[in-house]
Amino acid sequence: MKKSQVLKATIIILVCIIPVFVLAETFGLKKKRPKPHEFGNVVINNFSGKKDMAPVVFKHWLHRAKYSCRLCHVDIGFAMQAMGTQMTERDNNEGMYCGACHNGKVAFGPKEIDSNGKTTVNCDKCHSQGKDVVFKNDFYEFRKGMPQERFGNGIDWLKAEEKDYVKIIDFLEGFSIKRSGIKEPEEFDISASEKNMPDIIFSHKKHAKWNGCELCHPEIFGVKKGSQPYTMEEIFNGKYCGLCHDSVAFPNLDCQRCHTKVVM
Ligand code: HEC
Ligand code: HEC
Ligand code: HEC
Ligand code: HEC
Ligand code: HEC
Ligand code: HEC
Repeated sequence: MKKSQVLKATIIILVCIIPVFVLAETFGLKKKRPKPHEFGNVVINNFSGKKDMAPVVFKHWLHRAKYSCRLCHVDIGFAMQAMGTQMTERDNNEGMYCGACHNGKVAFGPKEIDSNGKTTVNCDKCHSQGKDVVFKNDFYEFRKGMPQERFGNGIDWLKAEEKDYVKIIDFLEGFSIKRSGIKEPEEFDISASEKNMPDIIFSHKKHAKWNGCELCHPEIFGVKKGSQPYTMEEIFNGKYCGLCHDSVAFPNLDCQRCHTKVVM
């Protein structure tokens, strides 16, 4: 057998007999496992440190409970890569990026003056890394009311949305354009190309709810099924499905949530 075949065979045997945690170690998946409240957090520090400001901590759990991925990553234009956007404080103050909402209207701004002329300075709320900041929104309070899952944030986000625990806004004045309804694309199964590994059921519909179409097409996936083959290894390395799964959506550790189709 070739080395890769031996590896695959080993994986399949392991999948059958060993708990996921142990398997993940064998697979080299044993990165530091973030705590549920840290999962999906992005530290942004292109400029802050150099200007003696604490780095910015952006929390996906809090924002994705309110907005679609598409709204931020397509309409507002955040890169899908930590520190990839390179927004500055000036950009934000001009009403771009974080400032699209953190302007004292949709959400708190850098400085707020109330009707009595009292000024509140909110720098620490964003520039929070390494600081003891008291936040208005507490993760564990939020999670209590949510359908739960094992990995990632420990929240079943799909169910939370389907059951209206969270309402996802997909439009922001000045950034989004009114879009005509797009015909729902086909649901399909993806073959795991391994006899004993359960195939994957991929729901276009469930993904489009959060991601629209533009988050995946054409940059991550071509629009012809099977036109660009990829492997599990690439997914583990943060490509294709792995771009979102592991960093923001439920992690790759959760094999059974993708490999769901009953093996005949
Ligand atoms: C809504 C979130 C948010 C708030 C509130 C905020 N900032 Fe920032 N700020 C950012 C982000 C994001 C960056 C880019 C971070 C980076 O790459 O280092 C940034 C960058 C900076 C930088 C780095 C240099 C530059 O010009 O971009 C400074 C200095 C700064 N902010 C000062 C402040 C001060 C002072 C306040 C309070 C009056 C404040 N910020 C409030 C999000 C925020
Ligand atoms: C409120 C805006 C907002 C929403 C909503 C949002 N994101 Fe993000 N996302 C960001 C920002 C900001 C960054 C960091 C970009 C940077 O540092 O330049 C980011 C980064 C990412 C990254 C890169 C992470 C890394 O560690 O490199 C991925 C992947 C991602 N987002 C996926 C998603 C998915 C999937 C959803 C929906 C479930 C989502 N985002 C919802 C603003 C958002
Ligand atoms: C699409 C709108 C939107 C964008 C873009 C956005 N936010 Fe927010 N953010 C919100 C809303 C709404 C809240 C909830 C405010 C509240 O509870 O008062 C929030 C809350 C927060 C909080 C929590 C404060 C607390 O006390 O719990 C932080 C920190 C934060 N945002 C940082 C950022 C940073 C940093 C960026 C840019 C990288 C950003 N946000 C981009 C809408 C947005
Ligand atoms: C989470 C990522 C994701 C999102 C979001 C998404 N797609 Fe796809 N789409 C895929 C994948 C994966 C394939 C298969 C590509 C492959 O096999 O190379 C695909 C394939 C397709 C195909 C080709 C189907 C075929 O049988 O050849 C069409 C058409 C398509 N998508 C349309 C859409 C439309 C329209 C939307 C928005 C409503 C959308 N997609 C949203 C991931 C996505
Ligand atoms: C653009 C980001 C993105 C990409 C790329 C992506 N997903 Fe997802 N996926 C999500 C989000 C967001 C959810 C909602 C659940 C969550 O956040 O944990 C989700 C949910 C799922 C679910 C759960 C469905 C259910 O019924 O419980 C499966 C299975 C899944 N994805 C498989 C895949 C596969 C397979 C691929 C690659 C072909 C893929 N995803 C690519 C973002 C993405
Ligand atoms: C986000 C969804 C997702 C998760 C989570 C996931 N897989 Fe996969 N897996 C896929 C997709 C999609 C393919 C099909 C790739 C292709 O076309 O060959 C695949 C293929 C495979 C294959 C076939 C060989 C190969 O490289 O393509 C094996 C073995 C495999 N996965 C093992 C695992 C194991 C073990 C885990 C858990 C530690 C896991 N997968 C978690 C989506 C996932």
